[in-house]
Amino acid sequence: MASTLPILCLLVLVLVQFQSTHSVIIPEHRNSIVEHKPHPSPSTSNSHGTYIVQTNHLAKPSNFATLDRWYTSMVAGSSSHILYTYGTVMHGFAVRLTEGEARRMSAVPGVTRVYKDRMYQIQTTRSPWFMGLHDDFGAWPDSEFGDGIIIGIVDTGIWPERASFNDTGLGPVRPTWRGECEDAEGFNATLLCNNKLVGAKCFTGNLPVPEYDDPSPRDFMGHGSHVASTAAGAEVPWADLYGFSGGRASGVARNARIAMYKACVPLPVGCPGSATIKAIDAAVSDGVDLISISIGVEPGTPFYDDPIAVATFGAERRGVLVVVAGGNDGPEASSVSNDAPWLTTVGAATTDRVFPAKLMLGNGVALTGQSLYTEKSKGTSMVGLVYSSCKEDDLTPDKVTGKVVVCAWMAGDVTGLYVERAGGAGMVSAMGMERLHDAVNAPAFTLPGVMISDTAANKLDAYMSSSPYPVVSFAFACETVTGENRAPMVAGFSSRGPSVVAPEILKPDVVAPGVNILAAWSGAVPPSGSKKIIDPRRVEYNILSGTSMATPHVAGAAALIKKVHGDWTPAMVRSALVTTAGPLDKNGREMFDSGTLMDATPLAAGAGLVLPRLAMDPGLVYDAGTQEYVDFLCTLNYTAEQMRQFVPEMSSAGCGARTIAGGMANLNYPSFVVVFDRSNGGGVRRLTRTVTKLSAQPETYNVTFAAPGDVKVTVTPETLEFKRENEKRSYTVEFSLQSQGKVRPAGTWDFGHISWENRKHRVRSPVAFNWKI
Ligand SMILES: *[C@@H]1O[C@H](CO)[C@@H](O)[C@H](O)[C@H]1NC(C)=O
Ligand SMILES: *[C@@H]1O[C@H](CO)[C@@H](O)[C@H](O)[C@H]1NC(C)=O
Ligand SMILES: *[C@@H]1O[C@H](CO)[C@@H](O)[C@H](O)[C@H]1NC(C)=O
Ligand SMILES: *[C@@H]1O[C@H](CO)[C@@H](O)[C@H](O)[C@H]1NC(C)=O
Repeated sequence: MASTLPILCLLVLVLVQFQSTHSVIIPEHRNSIVEHKPHPSPSTSNSHGTYIVQTNHLAKPSNFATLDRWYTSMVAGSSSHILYTYGTVMHGFAVRLTEGEARRMSAVPGVTRVYKDRMYQIQTTRSPWFMGLHDDFGAWPDSEFGDGIIIGIVDTGIWPERASFNDTGLGPVRPTWRGECEDAEGFNATLLCNNKLVGAKCFTGNLPVPEYDDPSPRDFMGHGSHVASTAAGAEVPWADLYGFSGGRASGVARNARIAMYKACVPLPVGCPGSATIKAIDAAVSDGVDLISISIGVEPGTPFYDDPIAVATFGAERRGVLVVVAGGNDGPEASSVSNDAPWLTTVGAATTDRVFPAKLMLGNGVALTGQSLYTEKSKGTSMVGLVYSSCKEDDLTPDKVTGKVVVCAWMAGDVTGLYVERAGGAGMVSAMGMERLHDAVNAPAFTLPGVMISDTAANKLDAYMSSSPYPVVSFAFACETVTGENRAPMVAGFSSRGPSVVAPEILKPDVVAPGVNILAAWSGAVPPSGSKKIIDPRRVEYNILSGTSMATPHVAGAAALIKKVHGDWTPAMVRSALVTTAGPLDKNGREMFDSGTLMDATPLAAGAGLVLPRLAMDPGLVYDAGTQEYVDFLCTLNYTAEQMRQFVPEMSSAGCGARTIAGGMANLNYPSFVVVFDRSNGGGVRRLTRTVTKLSAQPETYNVTFAAPGDVKVTVTPETLEFKRENEKRSYTVEFSLQSQGKVRPAGTWDFGHISWENRKHRVRSPVAFNWKI
């Protein structure tokens, strides 16, 4: 049963010169959407390919003294050597094999699964304060800014010279830390690693193809440095990109430590599954406290086909919290990935900061968009407009010289480089079907260029079709405007639930700042990320958008929690983040969704914006662990073989009668999905949860809830009394459809919440209702 690993991509929002329905992202072309096609492995089916052989270490024949000897014997017949071995979050190895050898390998006793590896196209200053963190009180000082917590980051490497990775004022890393920095050409670990950057390993040098021979933890793409500094960057007195977003910068957990595990390569851009699993395996083995992964798989990938799901299950078993990006495939429904219930899945929201730029149409109408173009101007001269596909081949001098090019879809500063090369006078990029409303991401154009919302694009279209010679000019104030826009809003590109694989688990869990985020950048690539066309610009800090950028904000918040509550399980930390998240915007209105142009639902925002200040003291938590997740996988009807990918000790009889009574919606999760379906009791759904009380003082909680008018909610009991620390109490919620109301069409969603409250705490769970009858 050799099978193919799904897409692994970096979840930074990238707008390139190809249109696509899915945004698989390449930091190489910042602000570019690229095709969502997997890049086939460099070898074709007749020759060798890389395979991941997952073994059941419990089934090792006794005649082999060690697992390594057993693995060596397995590959003895082939011409290849082992590329990686895995021994912490899962067991097995990666090796080059022919297809026939791989087929035979999958039949070897003790082999659980053989996956064909694939090379996939991969597609701050203010944000911590925007999340409610304050230098002088609350979560930051209470947690000593996360001091000593070690965050493992699986990404593109690190540029250690940036001020964000300065360790001034930090004490030594804890003596139990097993990680280290690896020396490489141009990367002297003794000089570059310190008490901030406490680990730096590269797993891409093992890759068998010469172009991937990049055996250094150094970041040649920018993405890894960006996410690392967002999670745990030191305080920097001033950081900016060409003056934009200028100010004091800080990671969310500025005293936490960073261990970088490089698993992605620049050319061709991607994160091989074999290297990604190895990076997770090494991070857990080294002893990180939590892992941040801004890499994703294709939405809808079953957990048993998803290397991140399999490897992170092993991390959860060892108590390591894993925070992951939900993907940039929104605003379509069911686009969320990294949706396993043992993961904390993050969506992207805007902050209260914009970079306005104006487009003045020949008819006198002015449209506002955003841009990081650096030449100030009150008004450029009026020039003609021309539509283009904005593909490289179409941007030729005969078509665009002296004109402003209109790209009818998201195209970023890499496209700007092509327009400039062909003699274009400027460009306008419209969100089109992406409908990003005002939440547009702003590229650092090298020529006059503006990103505009869908609403503005419609006005531009109307003008262009009504005027025989449409013309425009630009105005650039080169300003960062803070606090005047509606924020946070869910970003249009942020992936949405329901989860395809586990529809009764609400995903994403939360949102965090992920639009126009300033953070550290690689010295090897320009801010556009362009490698194909020369862009000589180099910057220390860069502004990017994507769920990639939101994820390390949550990892940083989790580090603050771990510092104060070192004994909490990953599920407890997630519960704290979810039940204290903010569903409202900064003006107290419902959070807006810039993808649907309506109020954000929990399918887009999860429980809302992460608020670390409240998450430090949630009152009650919904805990779960390996047993519950095994029951959950059994409830998905996994076969014994599939189960053994997650739990090697599973007997060949498989799950048997083991399931979650009442279905997956009864997993002890901090949010609810209620499906009204004939097969599960029609109009009545009864769900049970168990909460654990944290503080030592006696406390009483009363329930409150909100639900659509045609759903009756009965909570039993309505009051929970606790006397002791760590006391557990269960409650049951019955949701029953009131038939006298209107009849809802099948497929309808509606929303509400259940909260346990007293004067000190509010433990709020979002509820999503789905009609299937
Ligand atoms: C780190 O920061 C300190 C204090 O701001 C400064 O004196 C020192 O030069 C910095 N080190 C590096 C390597 O930039
Ligand atoms: C790294 O730097 C240290 C300190 O300058 C030096 O002693 C060592 O030889 C260097 N290592 C390599 C591999 O160049
Ligand atoms: C698992 O199998 C049971 C019994 O056939 C079925 O009722 C249930 O819907 C299945 N669950 C899933 C998630 O497919
Ligand atoms: C719970 O509700 C009861 C009845 O309304 C009220 O007397 C009590 O003060 C409430 N307790 C808390 C903790 O809010």
